Amino acid sequence: MAECVPSRATGMEGGIVIKDDWPGYSLELFTYPEHYREDIESVYIPHGVIMDRTERLARHIMDDIGDHDMVVLCVLKGGYKFCSDLVEFIKVQCRNSNKHLETRVEFIRLKSYLNDQSTEDLHIIGSQDLSVLRGKAIVDTGKTMKALLKHVEAFEPKMVKVAGLLVKRVSNVVGSLPDYVGFEIPNRFVVGYALDYNEYFRDLNHICVISEIGKVKYKI
Ligand code: HPA
Ligand code: MG
Repeated sequence: MAECVPSRATGMEGGIVIKDDWPGYSLELFTYPEHYREDIESVYIPHGVIMDRTERLARHIMDDIGDHDMVVLCVLKGGYKFCSDLVEFIKVQCRNSNKHLETRVEFIRLKSYLNDQSTEDLHIIGSQDLSVLRGKAIVDTGKTMKALLKHVEAFEPKMVKVAGLLVKRVSNVVGSLPDYVGFEIPNRFVVGYALDYNEYFRDLNHICVISEIGKVKYKI
């Protein structure tokens, strides 16, 4: 399925690399909502693997953040599962290491995709008064992330860090990479774990590859 390589730029871990030829696991190996049976092709990243990787990211964040309190900015809607699980792991690790770290959660909503294509329009809805940033589920060209960071800088935060569960391998990269990356994946459209296709599939626990039937069925 994958390997983990350090990022060339920073020497830090750039996420678990999922290779171009990874087809995903057969649907027969896992459970998923029955109503999506024909709409997904394979389980690309199982829920358990997402959770284990997120736990590790929480550890990296704790190591870097020290004793600073933080404001977590969750990028809706696609980032809500990742953000919620990441914050939970941070809280558990705090309790286990007797740290007193205050975490506040703010939400912002972004919308830039129609069907499986990125549109030119980026809508930012919500949130003021920010000091630290976290919790975006997916980064492809980095265009959205760049616009969002510009928006956040206006609030003059002391420190800004970005966590992304998925980073896509694309040639037209605009912004920089997140500070914490869960997985680096090929440039293909995935759904589940709060990632949608026209608002469908957010209720799927695994990250999956959508089928042609699914694409047509939920197209608008
Ligand atoms: N899936 C769902 N939403 C997205 C994706 C994706 O692969 N890329 C950007 N937004
Ligand atoms: Mg979406």
